[in-house]
Amino acid sequence: MLTEQMRAEAARLKRQNNAIVLAHYYVQPDAQDLADFVGDSYGLSRQAATMDCDAIVFAGVEFMAESAKLLSPHKHVYMPEPTADCPMAHMMSPDAVERMRQRYDDLAVACYVNSTTQMKALSDVCVTSSNAVRIVSRLPQKNVFFIPDVHLGHYVAQQVPQKNVILNDGFCPTHEAIELREVEELMGQYPEAVVCAHPECAQWILDVAGYVGSTSGIIKRCVQGDEKDYIVCTVHGVLHQIERQLAQTGQTHKRIYFPRTTPICPNMARVTGQKVLDCLRDRTGEVQVDPRWADGARRALERMLELAK
Ligand code: 13P
Ligand code: SF4
Repeated sequence: MLTEQMRAEAARLKRQNNAIVLAHYYVQPDAQDLADFVGDSYGLSRQAATMDCDAIVFAGVEFMAESAKLLSPHKHVYMPEPTADCPMAHMMSPDAVERMRQRYDDLAVACYVNSTTQMKALSDVCVTSSNAVRIVSRLPQKNVFFIPDVHLGHYVAQQVPQKNVILNDGFCPTHEAIELREVEELMGQYPEAVVCAHPECAQWILDVAGYVGSTSGIIKRCVQGDEKDYIVCTVHGVLHQIERQLAQTGQTHKRIYFPRTTPICPNMARVTGQKVLDCLRDRTGEVQVDPRWADGARRALERMLELAK
C-alpha cells in the first residue's frame, strides 16, 4: 500500500534522476500506481523507444526490460525485481530455428517478445499479442515459424489462413492453467457475460471467448463494452486498471469475474511499489543486454514497430 510520503518521494527521485517508470498491468497495483505509463508489451516498447529521459525503471519481467534497453540503448534501464523472469521466454532453442531454416527456403521466424535477446536476434521480426495477426499477415514469406508460444501461434494461424504457420511447443504456465470447467461455471452463472481471453490461453478457452486480445485490448473491451458482466481470462493484475477506468467513467454497475483459481503470474507479482521506490532511489538492477545479440534483436523489434503501424 502506497503512502502519500512514498508517492512524493517517487516523484522527487524521478525529477532528480530524469527517470520515468513503466509498468505492465500484471505487476502489483501499488507498483502500477507509481508508473508514468502502464501498458501491454507493445505499448510499453513504444513508450521505451520514444520517452525523453535518462533512466527507465521497468516494473515488469526481464524480457520487457531487455526490450526497453534494446530500443533505448543510451538510457539506463533498471528492474525493481531483477529475478522476475518469464518462463515462456526460455522455451525455444537456437537449434530449432536453425533446423527450420534449413527445411524451408521461404521462411520467416516470428518471435513473440516473450523471448530471450538471442532468440529475437535469430528471428526476422518480433510480435506481441496485440499485433501478431497484423504482422504475420504482412510478412512476405509464405511459411512462418511462430516461436515460442503454441497458443498465440495457433490463434494467429487461424486468423491468417493464407500463411503456413509452423508452431513451437512453448506456453505460459499461468494462462495454460486456466480451466475451461471454471470458465464454464461462470458462464452458467452469468449467461449474459462476455468472455474476454488473452491469446496465451489454451484453444478450448479461446473457443468460448467472445473477445480475444492483449491485456490492453481486454481492459478496453471491459470499459467500452455495452455488457454489464465480463469473465476475464488473463492475469488478475488487469483488474486494477479496469476498476480505475470504470470508476473514472461512472460505470460502477459493471461486474468483472475471474476464474475461481485466480490467474496470478508469480514473477510479475513480486514487483511491488516499495521495490519500485527502492530502485528509483538506489538505482540497482541495471539491465544489460548481451552485445553479441543486441543489434540483431533491436532490428527484429524495430521491424515489429514498423510493420505494426
Ligand atoms: P500483453 O502484451 O498482452 O500485455 O501480454 C504480455 C504477457 O506476458 C501476457 O502474459
Ligand atoms: Fe510470462 Fe505468463 Fe507471466 Fe506473461 S503471465 S510474463 S507469459 S509467465
